[in-house]
Amino acid sequence: MIHVKELHMSLPSGGRNVSILSGVTFTVPEKQRLAIVGRSGSGKSTLLGLLAGLDSPSSGEVHMNGVCVTELDEKRLAQFRRRNIGYVFQSYHLISTLTAKENIAVPLDLQHDQRADTRALELLDAVGLADRAKHYPAQLSGGEQQRVAVARAFANRPPILLADEPTGNLDAASSSQIIDLLLRLNDEYDSTLVFVTHDPSLSRCADRVVTLSDGHIVGDELQ
Ligand SMILES: Nc1ncnc2c1ncn2[C@@H]1O[C@H](COP(=O)(O)OP(=O)(O)O)[C@@H](O)[C@H]1O
Ligand SMILES: [Mg+2]
Repeated sequence: MIHVKELHMSLPSGGRNVSILSGVTFTVPEKQRLAIVGRSGSGKSTLLGLLAGLDSPSSGEVHMNGVCVTELDEKRLAQFRRRNIGYVFQSYHLISTLTAKENIAVPLDLQHDQRADTRALELLDAVGLADRAKHYPAQLSGGEQQRVAVARAFANRPPILLADEPTGNLDAASSSQIIDLLLRLNDEYDSTLVFVTHDPSLSRCADRVVTLSDGHIVGDELQ
């Protein structure tokens, strides 16, 4: 379960403080598929980054699976993130000097998983890229890179999967492959899925849609 309480985020911009999130509060039950939507600049990526512990809020709390993430020090936060959170970025963020298989093995290696290699190959197979194990990101299409990124995000079987516009850079065919994969792996691993999207075909797959506007929640609907 994710519980976000009175989250505020302001950042200095042009000599003054600009409020990006203003008192965001919501709870995501275990295994829910939540879509966060809203206009560009409404604070979606900022919110997802705070959920992932990639940034700390100006005030407020984020609780995940019983842990107050916003109170953890750097080291514990990194450890918590590795064990509990998978993250998919819009622009893939693969390591360019590592092969597809090595990229997927990174989170497993960080956990000193002895079976990192075998598991990375299994995941490559699960995302339909068994024959691309030795390819570098530059040798893969955008859709293929994002499939590798999805496999990497699920590598540690994290209970929470976050994705920021995972289909934002892709054409319709690749987008639908990524959507299918996210949903299939999410089902298989029983994880909670929170994703930001502009893509109606992706938000349609959610159990619930939260709408942000100017750093406030202005809509919250089950579907
Ligand atoms: N590091 C930053 N410094 C200053 N302003 C920022 C920073 N990051 C984001 N913003 C501003 O915060 C607002 C929300 O950004 P963001 O969370 O990226 O929105 P979204 O993902 O919904 O498009 C935007 O107005 C953006 O310009
Ligand atoms: Mg964004």
